[in-house]
Amino acid sequence: MSTLDTLGRPLRDLRISVTDRCNFRCSYCMPREQFGADHAFLPRASLLDFDEIARLARLFADLGVHKIRLTGGEPLVRRDLERLVAKLAPLPGIGDIGLTTNGSLLTREKAERLHDAGLGRITVSLDALDDTTFQAINGAGFPVEQVLAGIEHAAAAGLGPIKVNMVVRRGANDRAIEAMADHFRGSGRILRFIEYMDVGNANGWQRDEVVSADEILERIDARWPIERAPPNYPGEVARRWRYRDGAGEIGMIASITKPFCGDCTRARLSAEGSLYTCLFASRGVDLRGMLREGAADETIAERLAAVWHGRRDRYSELRSEAAAAGRRKIEMSYIGG
Ligand code: GTP
Ligand code: 5AD
Ligand code: SF4
Ligand code: SF4
Repeated sequence: MSTLDTLGRPLRDLRISVTDRCNFRCSYCMPREQFGADHAFLPRASLLDFDEIARLARLFADLGVHKIRLTGGEPLVRRDLERLVAKLAPLPGIGDIGLTTNGSLLTREKAERLHDAGLGRITVSLDALDDTTFQAINGAGFPVEQVLAGIEHAAAAGLGPIKVNMVVRRGANDRAIEAMADHFRGSGRILRFIEYMDVGNANGWQRDEVVSADEILERIDARWPIERAPPNYPGEVARRWRYRDGAGEIGMIASITKPFCGDCTRARLSAEGSLYTCLFASRGVDLRGMLREGAADETIAERLAAVWHGRRDRYSELRSEAAAAGRRKIEMSYIGG
């Protein structure tokens, strides 16, 4: 069954945030000033349990979702995440399960357990290769070496091809672009450069901190000539480029300069069970209440379909318009990227 929104976009992907907590305090996501010791995270009882998540995922799959991505916060701080993966992997219609992580808790054993449970792919966030830059960004004093080890463990466990996400923020890590490209060229990992987005309110986003995908591409092309590669699937978030010398590919996620709302097929489920139809939404639709009040599958499915049917979001395309500007937004660590 295919459910279309008001702009004719089908529901294909579900991004599930399993926790709003993280062991990092990245300056662009959970700056320590806002997420300090007194920050109120969601209480445990308000989080969906794995059975509740799996039930919703099954109903989403019935509506056309075939791809699931687990996010957070940091998804691996949720204990025994592989138990959730094991519940999602066998769902009819789900063909792809991925995980986006900061890599800090990705031991060899954890990577193997996730793979054995049915996880297909892992994307690891890494913003620089030198500890001074990386630690200034991650706000937790976490060393680069350990994230690189996490990437290797994921690859060894068969969770590849591994993608590496680098959020580029001018003045913070833009000088690390070439070093990152150089490091991952020829490694089999796919480095993706992400334009720093105005998601949430905590990071104090400024337009002049955005380094455009075009600027990044020019810099890379000047050192290692690149050419466009076709999308892997319609509506792919990253635009692909490959090195002309055969050293692999890179991706560009240009939500600021080249918005991709036109074919956005993604729904988001927060850790406490609210449904969001856009990364930049100000409000979600509570599903946990329905689950815990004993609603039947059909009732929940009808609700999901109705919400998607009424969806009009295209924030990135409207960003500069008054309607979008100045709106209260949900933090990325809550809604899950
Ligand atoms: P695959 O294509 O399946 O590998 O995953 P992905 O690139 O969608 O997932 P990932 O979690 O790595 O996301 C990469 C970046 O793209 C993150 O910064 C996300 O916040 C951003 N992103 C993902 N989906 C959307 C979206 O719908 N809108 C916007 N504006 N950004 C998105
Ligand atoms: N802009 C762009 N990307 C961001 N991420 C987190 N906050 C932002 C932001 N403000 C990235 C993380 C992770 C992915 C899920 O989103 O680095 O790779
Ligand atoms: Fe944590 Fe990822 Fe946010 Fe950094 S970007 S604070 S690692 S959730
Ligand atoms: Fe989809 Fe909203 Fe991102 Fe546009 S801004 S691509 S509608 S999540």
